[in-house]
Amino acid sequence: MRQSLVVGNWKMNGTLAGAESLAKGIIAGLSEGSAAIAICVPYVHIPSVSAWVKGTELALGAQNVADKSSGAFTGEISAAMLTEFDCKYAIVGHSERRTYYGDTNESVAARFCQAQEQNIIPILCVGETLEQREQDQTFAVIDAQLDAVVNMAGIASFGSAVIAYEPVWAIGTGKTATDEQAQEVHQYIRQYIAAKDQVIADKIQILYGGSAKPDNAKGLFAMPDIDGGLIGGASLDAESFLKIYHSI
Ligand code: PGA
Repeated sequence: MRQSLVVGNWKMNGTLAGAESLAKGIIAGLSEGSAAIAICVPYVHIPSVSAWVKGTELALGAQNVADKSSGAFTGEISAAMLTEFDCKYAIVGHSERRTYYGDTNESVAARFCQAQEQNIIPILCVGETLEQREQDQTFAVIDAQLDAVVNMAGIASFGSAVIAYEPVWAIGTGKTATDEQAQEVHQYIRQYIAAKDQVIADKIQILYGGSAKPDNAKGLFAMPDIDGGLIGGASLDAESFLKIYHSI
């Protein structure tokens, strides 16, 4: 049995005071559950949030990580820096990074490797644009995104990684993939891994992301290959994030 996981992606939102009430609100609403829960917060909030979540079930993550270990890379944050604050996860290859900041399949794979070098679990985001879906390229796009990581890190690396399927057309748009649309791609991703390593395929958590909300989470999470969610907008409110967490 795979453990489910719900991850909040706060993106570039909020203030430190807002981060405090949100993190503490989530912690206050945690109850004995079988699913794991984490928040990926802005870099500058990591030291504070790290102290607030210490000793709780709420894990901490970053929204990105450098593709190099250290050196003259102005503006980047290394995996070693994140481990100093007990970051368990780092998102890599979010579509906003790919679209607005030039991340490529190869640079995402390098970030994935850097995270793992420091025992941080990468949350690898994959997904197609609307245009790619309409041109029946969804699986080819996913293949290329996964191939780049397999080529650089090897299939065994997926033994300590999370994949998030995030159709770009569903992110922040209010247009969620239907349960069946999401399941189809999740199953495809699991089969891709299974063709190389069945044990890892059975074990890896594959999250859905893209306008997941309290009212659609239950249906999505009930799908056999959907192991939880990467939640953007709805994770900025403790109550709605907790409702999603409790719908597992
Ligand atoms: P959304 O974002 O839930 O606001 O669509 C998800 C994500 O980008 O991770």
